[in-house]
Amino acid sequence: MKRTVVCGALRGIDAGKTVVLNGWVHRKRDHGGISFINLRDRYGITQLVVDPEGMDPSEWADLSSVTQELRNEFCIAAEGRVRKRPDTMVNPDMPTGEIEVLARKILILNRCETLPFQIDAEEAREELRLKYRYLDLRSAAMQNRIRLRSETAFAVREYMTASGFYEIETPTFIRSTPEGARDYLVPSRLYPGHFYALPQSPQLYKQLLMVSGFDKYFQIARCYRDEDARGDRQPEFTQIDIEMSFAGREDILAMTEGLMGHVFKKVLNYPLPARFTRLSYKQAMELYGSDKPDLRFDLAMQDFSPYVGAGSFQAFKDALAQGEAEKAEAASKGVRLAGGAVKALLVPGQAAYSRKQIEELEAQAKVYKAKGLAWMKVNGTEEAPVLEGGVSRFFTTNAAEIIRGLGAKPGDLILIAADARWKTANIALGAVRSKLGKDLGLTLPKAGEAPRFEFVWIVDFPLFEWNEEENHWEAAHHLFSWPQDQFHAVLEQDPGSVLGDLYDLVLNGYELASGSIRIHDSELQKRIFNIVGIGAQDAEKKFGFLTNAFKFGAPPHGGIAPGLDRLVMIMAGETSIKEVIAFPKNSFAQSLMDESPSEATEKQLEELHLIIKKEE
Ligand code: AMO
Ligand code: AMP
Repeated sequence: MKRTVVCGALRGIDAGKTVVLNGWVHRKRDHGGISFINLRDRYGITQLVVDPEGMDPSEWADLSSVTQELRNEFCIAAEGRVRKRPDTMVNPDMPTGEIEVLARKILILNRCETLPFQIDAEEAREELRLKYRYLDLRSAAMQNRIRLRSETAFAVREYMTASGFYEIETPTFIRSTPEGARDYLVPSRLYPGHFYALPQSPQLYKQLLMVSGFDKYFQIARCYRDEDARGDRQPEFTQIDIEMSFAGREDILAMTEGLMGHVFKKVLNYPLPARFTRLSYKQAMELYGSDKPDLRFDLAMQDFSPYVGAGSFQAFKDALAQGEAEKAEAASKGVRLAGGAVKALLVPGQAAYSRKQIEELEAQAKVYKAKGLAWMKVNGTEEAPVLEGGVSRFFTTNAAEIIRGLGAKPGDLILIAADARWKTANIALGAVRSKLGKDLGLTLPKAGEAPRFEFVWIVDFPLFEWNEEENHWEAAHHLFSWPQDQFHAVLEQDPGSVLGDLYDLVLNGYELASGSIRIHDSELQKRIFNIVGIGAQDAEKKFGFLTNAFKFGAPPHGGIAPGLDRLVMIMAGETSIKEVIAFPKNSFAQSLMDESPSEATEKQLEELHLIIKKEE
């Protein structure tokens, strides 16, 4: 009873063939002595018919008793003859809908206990889905997403290999990599008190491979980061890790565009533009209030500060004044601040927004530290538009100028955020923009259209970020990114002004990939360590193997790492990477299925020289 054909393969032209199918009972219906069984495997569903007509009584007795025993998710083998369904019974929604298989013999390969949830029939709770993940994975939706992931990984390998890249594995027991999250540690049995770290990414190893002369490397690499899980974050995840020598930023961006173009064409038959839009970090923040803007809709933010002076709204004036004061104060400490900002979002045609809806937007702005969200509505006529409601009474003298400057029309809603910090004003209003995008359905495909994929490069990130709590500079990406040439002279004097050769690839509002041109010069690397407060000894201890390697003719190099989970998640139209990982962790970094993490035995702990401190 080994299968001769899979459950998704039979068509009208197969009528008359005798076949054996293997699979799971998806549904069973009994109709006055005749049973219909939908038999499922990963290729599809075929309808089996169990009908006494034309069978000899003893054979029928066997077949009918087996059939009666069948329940959902029994694993069975069935032999029978393919026949065309009568015209009225053809199911156009099923690829196999033209035919059915008249069963003559059914063998139960394995029985199934009462299911914790019905496969495909209900939206099971996440806890149950994760506990019985092997059953959850039987659903058509999960099967489809796992297929998508496999095809995506294959398309990646196909493109990279064809482009001359070697796939090279790097170790997963390593010395800690500085990607900025907490490490997962593995205790060493042989060296008491010593630990391996699981890689947060293969960053240092891929740079070493460049030193070794493998000038085009890639790896579909598992990475481990002990950080709080979110929709697009898991403690273990997969990167398409890439590094190239003798390549500048343009080479790496072009290669990544080629890779994405191939993957989307091959897997989704979706054509991408040959080149992706680019925004500098500053433009992205100014226009969209985010370094990962969703460009499926425009709704760009505008500068409202030119209208503040002639108006009489104190909160806006205060924000700008305080911004100037803080900027001067910081400048005296050698830290460059951008000052205050007053930003406006013109929402076309949404003047009917209710007070409650605006309050919800304000609450969103406040999550991102805004002090409030001011609003006005545009009314009147095309010829004589007027500002009404909200803070409009503070802008009576320059209303016409505001309407003209923002390009507002009657029926529009204007939302404004002001803050003494440029970043806070932009990020808060950017969060409002994102919420509007969702609330107004701007990210959804229009009727009859395919989902959209809007890629954008964010380039020219600052190399350093000021850590306000601890009062020191930090690397914005990682420590090995190249400061753009024009800033080398002023690295120490003005770290805040330094732009790095850093780039992020953003897709539909998600950070899909990050990368940079690397420092290949150990002197420059030392200066960077110095600025972020890593002393020579510390640097030698942590990264000595890398900086030493760079003394032996290290080539100029750079790279990038798109997250595979995020890529497949977005391709699948999902909002959680759990949906595209076969066995993910829950939001508390646990695997509910095998119940890990779990306690170690006394013997294991002893061998590892570990004593567990009892929590008070
Ligand atoms: P970065 O830390 O930005 O860069 O990571 C690159 C990409 O990996 C994905 N990613 C994650 N996906 C799921 N869960 C997570 N916890 C998670 N963390 C990151 C994202 C992200 O854009 N070594 C550098 C790359 C380089 O410079 O070449 C790095 O790891 O899609
Ligand atoms: P208030 O005068 O504080 O009652 O605020 C009046 C309106 O201005 C409210 O809608 C506030 O949300 C808004 N508002 C106050 N401060 C700011 C600010 N910094 N940026 C934007 N709107 C603000």
